[in-house]
Amino acid sequence: MAMAGSAIGLGNIWRFPYMVGQNGGAAFIAVYLFAAIFLCVPIFLSESIIGKRAQLSTVGAMEKLAPGTPWKYIGLFTFFAPIILVSYYSVVGGWSVAYQVRALSFAVTDVSMTQADHSARFGSFIASTWTPLIWHTVFIGLTAIIVRLGIRKGVEQFTRASTPLLFVLIIVIMVYSLSLPGSKAGVDYLLKPDFSKLTGGAMLSAMGQAFFSLSIGVGCILTYASYMKRGENLLATGVGTAAFDLMFALLAGFAIMPAVFAAGIEPGAGPGLIFETLPYIFSTMGMTHPVISHVISILFFTTIVVAALTSSVSMLETCVAFLVDQKNWSRKKATLVLFLCCWAIGVVCSLSFGPLKDFHILGNTIFNFCDKLISNFVMTIGSLLFVIFVGWRMKKADVWDELTCGGRLRSSRWFKPIYFMIRWVSPIVIVVIFLSNLFL
Ligand code: PHE
Repeated sequence: MAMAGSAIGLGNIWRFPYMVGQNGGAAFIAVYLFAAIFLCVPIFLSESIIGKRAQLSTVGAMEKLAPGTPWKYIGLFTFFAPIILVSYYSVVGGWSVAYQVRALSFAVTDVSMTQADHSARFGSFIASTWTPLIWHTVFIGLTAIIVRLGIRKGVEQFTRASTPLLFVLIIVIMVYSLSLPGSKAGVDYLLKPDFSKLTGGAMLSAMGQAFFSLSIGVGCILTYASYMKRGENLLATGVGTAAFDLMFALLAGFAIMPAVFAAGIEPGAGPGLIFETLPYIFSTMGMTHPVISHVISILFFTTIVVAALTSSVSMLETCVAFLVDQKNWSRKKATLVLFLCCWAIGVVCSLSFGPLKDFHILGNTIFNFCDKLISNFVMTIGSLLFVIFVGWRMKKADVWDELTCGGRLRSSRWFKPIYFMIRWVSPIVIVVIFLSNLFL
């Protein structure tokens, strides 16, 4: 449940719809699906095999399984990546908390506001200096508190209640969104691929989105797997998590895109897409069903915040675990120091929507630079290294032992094709997509 909580988050609800909108719709989804099914499951399993085998977080796991080799540097790589990740994730987490509070005060269901008003509100909110910073501080603070309390108590209880609720709510919103006049264009956009729009960059972004959504390539899954008991079924966990995550992203796409077209919002509007679209959905709903729209908007933004927290917790936990396991820091000290670092990086990312919006790194704002760096490059390279480690460095007998619990599981018969995917298919496809970005 904690792994599913890490996977399902803002990546599905916030990032997936806007990435689809920026990269041409159905063709992007086709590559995303391919990557999710054929790459993510083997990578997820590889990370889990390493974590469960070593029973240690990233650096310790590599040192234990490949002592005295440079593999421990992948561990270090996965120490820094989640720090940047949680910092900018927290900015969007903060926006979600702000909208939750607005939902509680009935502002998102205000029927007197037009679509343009909602968009303008959001635009001035993120461009302002202080308000988004306050919400970012609240979000990263909550994340740190949960991590400080320890993983099992905090995360599992949250996830158990919030994930099913989120599914129900997104389905209700999807049904409503599909009923809006003009929504059909959104459905066509999601279903009719135009492969001419599929540039190398779009393919890399689709693969990056699949990795981001399943939390792979940065050591989070490895760290969670290190808390698993010997006899647990990794294959069932991996396939189950991937299936839920994929389904949820698609549902979110079908909930948001039809409404984007119905409202006449530009699909490529970028990171603000859902924050402009959801208030439109709720206030339109409010014209005919005021009470229902209030209830749904409050529940929805609350569950988004919870889903975002269960993901941000997994990111921060990965870095905290390193300092606790390897450097013998107390959990309290590690959490506090990392909280301060992530808060500071998040401040700069947040300001890149306002006062720092003209400051660019390689043509991107600071926020976009961090996001592209992590999802398109760090996660891709991290994933590649994890599959190579399991496929080529670990002994086949050990991989068999972890994946099938010594042959005791019924799923043992899937071992051969999975091992083949880990050893050959995943590394080759990742490299091909990576290179096609350079040449296409
Ligand atoms: N998968 C999470 C989401 O969809 C984000 C995440 C990425 C979490 C990497 C942990 C590690 O929101």
